[in-house]
Amino acid sequence: MKEKLEQIKAEALRQIASSDALDKLNEVRVNYLGKKGELTAVLKGMKDVAAEERPKVGQLVNETREEIERVLEETVRKMEKAVREAKMKQEVIDVTLPARKNNVGHRHPSTIALEEVERIFIGMGYEVVEGPEVEKDYYNFEALNIPADHPAKDEQDTFYITGDILLRTQTSSTQVHEMEKGHLPIRMIAPGRVFRSDEVDATHSPSFHQIEGLVIDRNITLADLKGTLAEFARELFGEETKVKFRPHHFPFTEPSAEMDVSCFKCGGKGCRFCKGEGWIEILGCGMVHPHVLEMSGIDPEKYSGFAFGVGLERIALLKYEIDDMRLLYENDIRFLKQF
Ligand code: DAH
Repeated sequence: MKEKLEQIKAEALRQIASSDALDKLNEVRVNYLGKKGELTAVLKGMKDVAAEERPKVGQLVNETREEIERVLEETVRKMEKAVREAKMKQEVIDVTLPARKNNVGHRHPSTIALEEVERIFIGMGYEVVEGPEVEKDYYNFEALNIPADHPAKDEQDTFYITGDILLRTQTSSTQVHEMEKGHLPIRMIAPGRVFRSDEVDATHSPSFHQIEGLVIDRNITLADLKGTLAEFARELFGEETKVKFRPHHFPFTEPSAEMDVSCFKCGGKGCRFCKGEGWIEILGCGMVHPHVLEMSGIDPEKYSGFAFGVGLERIALLKYEIDDMRLLYENDIRFLKQF
């Protein structure tokens, strides 16, 4: 029995010594110390050993088991350490390597243009407000003097949610919301997204942005409109900028006009940028129609006002001399990086 145990121990230690991986060592553990292992088999054979011999044999078995366990554990620890060290050698960090560059994004050209416009009007004491994109026909058309059968509804075809609820075609709807609140005077701009059922091309998109302006107080005249918008143009495009008002028609203003600015590329001489005109159209404006005031509960005998609407994309395109509006929406990083 003693020789048998010696033999088992010698064989186990030999196998441990020749193991070159942790799972091999585990195999040795299972084969010798496990439930079906060799030492367990010896213990099971104890019933054949004479009763007085049993304690001695038992002790011998335990000693053998402890010895194998000790060597096994030691070898496992050594092997784990070696594996760890090899891994650490492989993963050395070269602290002298240049760091990976952190790509910080920045504002979109349309956002830069919007913030510039907001800055100018806030400087003149205006409040920045917002209105809903999903709008009732009443706010987008009816209350702006565009009744059901008005031809202006054709020019501003949009996306209808129901017969009465639609995606707004103009930020002018925000004027009505502000007037209905009944807090006078009003001095506001309302930037936001608008929608029209237009095909995409270099100057059109089914979704774009406008900035609406509205001033209502006692004694507001066309002179206030002209002075304010001329100052806006000078701040946006430079001190030298001249403005020109051409008569136009909008249902919600009377009189109405479109404002042109002198071409800031050629100073008004005429160039490719202004298509030889010397002038660039920039916005629509006018004196708020008395009927529009009345519909929103403002007495046109006491109050008057002016309004204007600017296309945000148009400003961004002009400011940065971009010739295709689609570039503003495609989010091509090579384009956006330039601003
Ligand atoms: N809402 C007009 C449009 O989309 C622009 C406009 C013109 C707004 C004149 C105004 C205004 O407030 O007075 O074409």
